[in-house]
Amino acid sequence: MRFDVLSLFPGIFEGYLSHSLLKRAIAAGLVEVHLHNIRDWAKGKHKSVDDRPFGGGPGMVMMVEPVVECVEAVQQMCPCPGHLVMLTPQGRRLDQPLVEKLAQHKRLLLLCGRYEGFDERIRILLQPEEISLGDFVLNGGEVAAMAIIDAVIRLVPGVLGDRQSAQEDSFSGAERLLEHAQYTRPRVFRGLAVPEVLLSGDHQRIAQWRAENSRQRTLQRRGQTEGY
Ligand SMILES: C[S@@+](CC[C@H](N)C(=O)[O-])C[C@H]1O[C@@H](n2cnc3c(N)ncnc32)[C@H](O)[C@@H]1O
Repeated sequence: MRFDVLSLFPGIFEGYLSHSLLKRAIAAGLVEVHLHNIRDWAKGKHKSVDDRPFGGGPGMVMMVEPVVECVEAVQQMCPCPGHLVMLTPQGRRLDQPLVEKLAQHKRLLLLCGRYEGFDERIRILLQPEEISLGDFVLNGGEVAAMAIIDAVIRLVPGVLGDRQSAQEDSFSGAERLLEHAQYTRPRVFRGLAVPEVLLSGDHQRIAQWRAENSRQRTLQRRGQTEGY
């Protein structure tokens, strides 16, 4: 799976790319992440990428020209056409079904905004899929792009050591329930003991306990077990 990240601050990704699961997935050749600085497509002496909004108002707006030319050039860098995602608080809120849909693409282009956001003509010309991390405003799209990469790579075959674990995660599987409670050593801590059934070695009982715990947690925390 290939990700192309288009940002004014690609350096933000450096630490993230060099740790843990993503680092291993890249080393194993399962995931590629290519960073592109939108400013490289800016013109003029000052290499401007933003300008004041027509009509007045606070802040700056990302200019149409460098962004569109950057996206078009990055698309040409690989024969596999990339699905273009624009990170914006005005997009569809990210959830696990959307992550699963994104994971079906072989290549994603993640377009990160800054300042007051994008000149509207960027949306009109490029027709991206607009995705939001949630109903709040970030300073830039980079954290949202990282969240998408982080969630999507869990579904790329071979990235997780244990293939079962993504299927048993919260929001996954047919019912999309929250995952059951987990325990590890010690067996007792400050008087809190691990449920006896988990120590029994009886796989059928353990599976029943986990399924029931999962339903109860979903009901308690989401108020229902379907379509929440
Ligand atoms: C300060 S925000 C601009 C917000 C814009 N003025 C608005 O009110 O819709 C700058 C950039 O951060 C990113 N961003 C902010 N909140 C986001 C969110 N909830 N999800 C995804 N990206 C977000 C977008 O790329 C956006 O263009």
